[in-house]
Amino acid sequence: MLKKSMILLASLLVATSLCLAQEKTNQQPVVKKTPIKQTSAASGKEMYSQYCAPCHGTDGKGAGPAASSMKVMPTDLTQLARKHDGKYPANSVASVLKFGSGPASHGSADMPVWGPLFKSLDKYHETVVQQRISNLVSYIDSLQAK
Ligand code: HEC
Repeated sequence: MLKKSMILLASLLVATSLCLAQEKTNQQPVVKKTPIKQTSAASGKEMYSQYCAPCHGTDGKGAGPAASSMKVMPTDLTQLARKHDGKYPANSVASVLKFGSGPASHGSADMPVWGPLFKSLDKYHETVVQQRISNLVSYIDSLQAK
């Protein structure tokens, strides 16, 4: 009887140490959500590197440090004009920023909806929110592949 429970205990120990080893090798990047930081609404570049580069990459190509943990890869923002017959789709980028990318077309909850975040940042000053969005839209325009 005693012998049996010793064996059981021993195998339990082996099982738990296996689990621990697996946890160590299975390390996935962990994306931490932090409160939105203040930036200058006048600088599309500053806002982009603070808010967008973690996922879309500094170069806009979609390979930021947080990208590998997304279900859907962040869009390559340098190809937006190419994908739209050479015309940068400024209005649709602005609307994605204001209202989100929409579950119907992309089905990803990873892309944040920036409108409400900017509103909270700017204490509901609609003109500043508009300025942020339009400066981000122009900054992404400047990243378009030629
Ligand atoms: C937490 C990661 C993450 C951050 C931060 C992020 N994005 Fe995205 N973004 C995504 C993902 C994932 C997609 C692709 C799936 C989708 O469209 O929802 C995407 C898609 C997009 C699209 C394309 C939508 C379309 O309709 O094709 C645009 C434009 C965009 N992001 C702009 C931005 C801008 C500008 C910022 C910064 C203000 C930003 N993103 C920040 C993850 C992110």
